[in-house]
Amino acid sequence: MQTYLVTGGNRGIGLALVRELASRGHKVIATVRDSSKVADVAKLGATVHVLEADKPESIAALAKTLAGVPIDVLINNAGVSDEDRVVGTLNMEAFERVFRTNTFAPALIAQALLPNLRAGTRKQVLNISSQLGSIASANAGFSYAYNASKAALNMITARLAKDLAKEGFTVVSFCPGWNKTDMGGPDAVLDPAVSMKQLLDVAEKLTTASNGAYLHYHGEPIAW
Ligand SMILES: NC(=O)c1ccc[n+]([C@@H]2O[C@H](COP(=O)([O-])OP(=O)(O)OC[C@H]3O[C@@H](n4cnc5c(N)ncnc54)[C@H](OP(=O)(O)O)[C@@H]3O)[C@@H](O)[C@H]2O)c1
Repeated sequence: MQTYLVTGGNRGIGLALVRELASRGHKVIATVRDSSKVADVAKLGATVHVLEADKPESIAALAKTLAGVPIDVLINNAGVSDEDRVVGTLNMEAFERVFRTNTFAPALIAQALLPNLRAGTRKQVLNISSQLGSIASANAGFSYAYNASKAALNMITARLAKDLAKEGFTVVSFCPGWNKTDMGGPDAVLDPAVSMKQLLDVAEKLTTASNGAYLHYHGEPIAW
């Protein structure tokens, strides 16, 4: 049994991760943005805390609440997108909003929870990125802010991986695949209940040899 912390655990991919981890007998700490969601997620067997990932004071409050609690694996899952899909619709508000949650928050959450991760046995940070953050496949058009935020998140993964390697950390960017969630939409090809089983199977087998990797949910590498 290990301790996982999953951000954005109340719906979509995060909820599927919480369900699957709890069913595997792990200790799950889930965060939700809205306190009215705490009870529902707690029913799945998770310990639930409120975290507004885009607010530094909320990240600091979470770290204070969790002081002294070892965490084996941090899954930075909470994410947002926007409607800025073509040149002409780009705007500062979308970039700021999306980068705060998708890029700045995972970096600051990992930093704030480093003492917890250092006290854990696995020392893993799994950043839920996207293939849409791959510069090599930049023709896969979606929100500009979203694509750029995930490319920048990949740099956070690469930097943390290098800086924490000597402490035995494994920091990875994962693409969860195109899932039927509020973000992925109804045309998506994957059921998160199935794809997240695969992602967790891959994650459970990760060693430090994968530190700094950018992987599909099924374990194949993605071109940066
Ligand atoms: N679905 C896909 O096909 C797909 C593909 C590639 C990557 N991803 C990535 O997978 C992750 C999960 O996506 P999803 O499809 O499950 O999205 P989703 O259904 O829209 O759920 C997003 C989750 O993130 C939370 N969240 C958003 N902003 C937050 C903030 N500022 N603070 C705290 N929590 C926040 C939401 O909380 P609320 O309920 O309170 O809004 C919700 O729990 C994201 O990082 C996304 O970029 C998804």
